[in-house]
Amino acid sequence: MPLDTETYTLPVARTIADLQAQVTAWRAEGLRIGFVPTMGALHEGHLSLVDLAARHADKVVVSIFVNPTQFAPHEDLDAYPRTEQEDAEKLAKRPAHLIFAPAAREMYPEEFDLSIQVSGPSEGLESDARPHFFAGVVTVVAKLFAAVKPDIATFGEKDYQQLLVVKKLVRDLDLGIEIVAGETTREQDGLAMSSRNAYLTSDERRRASQLYAALNNVADTIKQGASITEAREAGLAILHEAGFDPIDYLEVRDAETLTPLETVTSPARVLAAAKLGATRLIDNIPLEI
Ligand code: PAF
Repeated sequence: MPLDTETYTLPVARTIADLQAQVTAWRAEGLRIGFVPTMGALHEGHLSLVDLAARHADKVVVSIFVNPTQFAPHEDLDAYPRTEQEDAEKLAKRPAHLIFAPAAREMYPEEFDLSIQVSGPSEGLESDARPHFFAGVVTVVAKLFAAVKPDIATFGEKDYQQLLVVKKLVRDLDLGIEIVAGETTREQDGLAMSSRNAYLTSDERRRASQLYAALNNVADTIKQGASITEAREAGLAILHEAGFDPIDYLEVRDAETLTPLETVTSPARVLAAAKLGATRLIDNIPLEI
């Protein structure tokens, strides 16, 4: 199947072979390849990662693939928004050069047997609530990296644990891909942009900004001299008051390793995940004293 240049303004590769034909041609011209992996339903956060990739590369490939292996059977794989046409229109206005939008069978043919586990930064936090999640992410990211063979790839700090896990994957496999982190893009009231925000009712949307407020409250309380335990209690009270339930975690962790801290003496991260109605939100902020 040739590269699809008709459907959208940007060309779309549906197969790994077509993707690689284009990337190999660019590479033969001495161009640097940037890569932004996404699951689509693109918002300004994703698009800022495209802009960031373009500052580090000559050509930018954006993948749109709702990866089934990172969803547990009871999670929102079927409900996850699929908006390929709108995504392509948004990407055409940004420095993106090729969309890679494979079908699930292209990524996971019938005989596919691989599942990669990363320990270290993947332990705890998200893994406690979603034990299947990082094996699914790491396996698909490894597969996407092998398909695109980028020089650099951008990942958002919004999924901070995922960012560290991907960096570890690159280090452990000596992939030689530069991972560039993009700062979290926020709505005016502080809510981190996420494709899942679309699930929120208008009342939940109004209360959702309290997740960011709680993170900041924890960071500020620690900066004012309180212990991590005291600060977490104050942050949890904000989340309970806003109606988050359950709260999977609200933690202060080492920014490099995500190990738990007794006190903050080196760069740290305040991280939280909690449900508002049916929607699970996650967010984090840096904490340096
Ligand atoms: O962050 C995401 O959107 C996904 O986890 C990723 C990295 C595209 C892998 O499916």
